[in-house]
Formats: sequence, structure tokens, C-alpha cells
Amino acid sequence: MKVLLTGASGFLGRHTLPVLIARYGQENVVAVSSRDADLMDRTAVDRLLSEHKPEVVVHYAAYSGGIGANRAYPADFYFRNVILTALMFDGAARHKVRKMVYPMGGCSYPAKATSPIDEAQLWTGFPQPESAPYSTAKMMGTVGAFSYRRQYGLDTSVIVPGNMYGEYDNFHPLDSHVVPAMIRRYHEAGLNGADEVVMWGSGKPERDFVYAADVAKVIPYFIEQYSSDDWVNISSGVRTPIRELAETIAELVGYRGRIAWDTTKPDGQAVKIFATQRLAALGLSCDTSLRAGLRRTIAWFAQHYAARSDGLRL
Ligand SMILES: NC(=O)c1ccc[n+]([C@@H]2O[C@H](COP(=O)([O-])OP(=O)(O)OC[C@H]3O[C@@H](n4cnc5c(N)ncnc54)[C@H](OP(=O)(O)O)[C@@H]3O)[C@@H](O)[C@H]2O)c1
Repeated sequence: MKVLLTGASGFLGRHTLPVLIARYGQENVVAVSSRDADLMDRTAVDRLLSEHKPEVVVHYAAYSGGIGANRAYPADFYFRNVILTALMFDGAARHKVRKMVYPMGGCSYPAKATSPIDEAQLWTGFPQPESAPYSTAKMMGTVGAFSYRRQYGLDTSVIVPGNMYGEYDNFHPLDSHVVPAMIRRYHEAGLNGADEVVMWGSGKPERDFVYAADVAKVIPYFIEQYSSDDWVNISSGVRTPIRELAETIAELVGYRGRIAWDTTKPDGQAVKIFATQRLAALGLSCDTSLRAGLRRTIAWFAQHYAARSDGLRL
């Protein structure tokens, strides 16, 4: 089976590539990034698909970023993700791809979704406005899956990874999610001998976190055994208060100073947890413990930070 992985140089792509190679063989996996083909260009999409003739496309290529970038460039987030989604669905259908796997973000759920957030809540309200241009563009994947299945028989599995963390994440101080941001802050506080790190909010909000390698691990199932219009949350479903996350990361990083909480800063949503019943009904789970996943992520970060490796977005 020939598999094309787009977005292979990204965070989830780097976790998924070894899984695909182990399952289908190096010679059957084609991994591309924007350097190989600009997938916003229809001709490039056609060239890629006619050159490799994949039976399966795992379509990760997307234009993603932190909240600052989403605020600054909403039109780019909207336009690029609509185009990256639409062109690949259309190309895959015209080039007779049998199966597509398409990830949508947990941020696509309504801002007012009730936790645990089950899949049925997706179209019941508008997402967080700051990232809505990105997250609504990604929602078009569910419409693409529905439409191209009916008109062309393209079988698409839409997955919804939750709050992912792991090796290869974005650790940039201005633009990273909570886990990589904390890892970097405690690591640098340790290096600088700081005796206090101030965190925003009360530390009370609860989130669930999923190790990216656990998401990657279930991709072959969605290639081989899943065939449905229904999107599936891929998360751990385990509730973790932000305060506990901070304390665990500080401990694992080896930071011995104080953690202070600036309660004048906003907390965000009190609880955002993904329902995992649909995933569990398929016999799947993401069960790397937070501690074990953090340990590996921190080890990777420390090694790359020290070497200032270009594998790390700093
Ligand atoms: N990260 C999350 O927490 C999360 C959660 C849920 C869903 N997702 C979805 O999962 C997928 C992977 O996310 P990620 O975090 O791995 O993203 P990422 O690290 O930002 O990687 C994005 C990938 O897309 C490629 N790309 C961007 N523009 C392109 C273009 N015009 N043509 C070809 N390739 C292009 C990039 O290539 P270059 O490296 O060459 O620029 C990179 O390989 C995305 O579809 C995202 O929406 C992510």
C-alpha cells in the first residue's frame, strides 16, 4: 500500500512518519513538506499525486500557529487552511486515492462546548474567536469528507486530536502551547538560577493532554479499519488541573524554585476535556501517562535546547 504523508516535517508528521514506515515499509511511504511541494498550488498537488499514485493520503499539511499569530494573521489562517484542505480533497478524488486521513483541531469545537466534549457538539456553536479563522477552515474537512465520499467514493477518516504535546513541538516563547511553554520556562529558570516563576491565572482550569506519539500510533487503524462520516476525538480524556501540570513539569525538569500564580490574569475556560467514548468503542486509547510523556518530551527538549538544534523551534 502506497501512503503519502503531507506535513511530514511538522510536529505530528514527525511522530507519524516512523509509524507509517514500520507498518507499510520505507519504500511505500512518501513524506513531503512545503519544500517538496506547495500544496496551495493546484498544479503541485496534481504533480505530486500523479507522480506517486498513492492509495492513501494522510493529509497533515496546514498553516498553524499560536494565539498571537492567529490574532495577527486571521485572513492567512483562514485562506491557507481552506485552500490546503479543498485542493487535497479534490486532488485525491480526481487521482483515485482510496483513503484519506484528515486531522481537525480540538479548537474547532464551540467556545461554549460542555466538557467532556463529545463529537456531536462540533456544529452547535462558534469556536473561540481568536482562532476561529483556522479552526473553522479545518472544519471544512468534515464537509469535504462527507461530499467527496458521496460524489467520488473517497473514503476519509476525520480525526480530532486534543491538546497534543511531545517531542518536535513548538517551544517558541511567543507562540507555544501550555506544555512546551512551561517546559521551556522552568528549564530556563533553572539555568538562570531564578527562585520564582510566575504563571498566569489561578492554576485551577482543567485540561486533558494527549501524547503526540499516541495519536500517531492510531493512524494505521484509521487507514485500514475505519470507514465512516463520523469524526473521532483522539485524546487521553484524563483531567489535569493546570497547577498539577505546572508542578509535575517543574519536578521533572528539576526546577526547585517557587511557582507563583498571578490571579489578576485570565484563566480561560474552567474545564476543557475531550470525550473519548467513540475512540474507546473502536478499541483504541491514548494511554501514555502524562508523566511518562512529559519525561520523554523534556529529555528531547533539553538535548535539542543545549545543541540549539534546528530540529527545535526556539
Ligand atoms: N498541533 C496540534 O495540537 C494539533 C491538534 C489537532 C489537529 N492538528 C492538525 O494536525 C496537522 C498537523 O499539525 P502539526 O502541529 O504537526 O502542524 P505543524 O507542526 O505546523 O506542521 C505543518 C506542516 O504543514 C506543512 N505545510 C504548511 N504549509 C504548506 C504548504 N503550503 N504546502 C505543503 N506543506 C505545507 C509544513 O511544512 P514546512 O515544515 O515545510 O513548512 C509542516 O510540515 C494539521 O493539519 C493540524 O491542523 C494539530
